[in-house]
Amino acid sequence: MAGPPQAAGDDCHQGQHRQRPAPARRQFRSHLRAELEASLRRLGRDHVELFYIHRRDPTIPLADVVGTLHRFEEEGKIGGYGLSEIAPYTLREAHAIHPCTAVQNEYSLWTRQPELGLIQTCAALGVAFIPFSPLARGMASDTALTRDQVQDGFRAMNPRFSGQNFTRNTASFDRLRAFAAARGWSTPATALAWVLQQGDHLIPIPGTRHADRLRQWRPAPDIRFSAEDRAELDRILPVGFAAGDRYGDHQLQSIERYC
Ligand SMILES: NC(=O)c1ccc[n+]([C@@H]2O[C@H](COP(=O)([O-])OP(=O)(O)OC[C@H]3O[C@@H](n4cnc5c(N)ncnc54)[C@H](OP(=O)(O)O)[C@@H]3O)[C@@H](O)[C@H]2O)c1
Repeated sequence: MAGPPQAAGDDCHQGQHRQRPAPARRQFRSHLRAELEASLRRLGRDHVELFYIHRRDPTIPLADVVGTLHRFEEEGKIGGYGLSEIAPYTLREAHAIHPCTAVQNEYSLWTRQPELGLIQTCAALGVAFIPFSPLARGMASDTALTRDQVQDGFRAMNPRFSGQNFTRNTASFDRLRAFAAARGWSTPATALAWVLQQGDHLIPIPGTRHADRLRQWRPAPDIRFSAEDRAELDRILPVGFAAGDRYGDHQLQSIERYC
């Protein structure tokens, strides 16, 4: 079926996991197939370019998971497979079994862990790195989020949006807003430009429900930071500036942590 490339994932939507029971180990193959078929049905296609495992279940051998995805490739249902929220060692192991196409982990000005090996490993293996939440989940906007806006949904459970952490983080992003405004750039475009300039193999996936906001991102590829700009960004938003962990305790259990 002709059409633009599409990507699909097995169990993650808009950064929120659907409440489903984890598939029993012996059922994972049928689970993956059912998820893929459901994605294809929803998209009205018989092929997607990229199919992601959004969280790795450590009780299932990686060789079995990658083998299953490889079979989908051989059947012509997917162009390649991706992994999400994984550590560099898992990428190396998976890639050795069958080449991986893309890795999707959180990466932005306030979430820098991928710099400790994941970005480098993707580059070394020729795997695309897909930074999700590159706008710091809405913090990198021209108008600061209000406390009311972070009272429900994902942000309500996220330590970076609660109590004093939110106050401190808003003050940090105020500095980014001032930095961008002084140069005539929008804050989202500036945050996206920073991600884009971390490597040619990075393809960030910002999110919005508004077309006018999407238009604000457009200048990002054309923004060029001078050496002084970079030094200023490092000064106003130094590595580790974010107050609070990027996930709550219950969410941290499903991601691979390293370093
Ligand atoms: N693999 C994973 O585990 C995982 C986890 C989380 C997210 N993701 C994926 O990553 C993508 C984006 O992530 P995300 O939505 O969490 O984070 P994001 O792109 O960092 O931030 C999105 C937020 O920024 C706001 N926003 C976007 N453009 C804006 C603008 N120009 N001005 C002001 N506010 C703006 C949006 O609000 P409005 O919508 O109101 O415009 C939304 O609240 C999605 O495709 C998502 O599925 C993947």
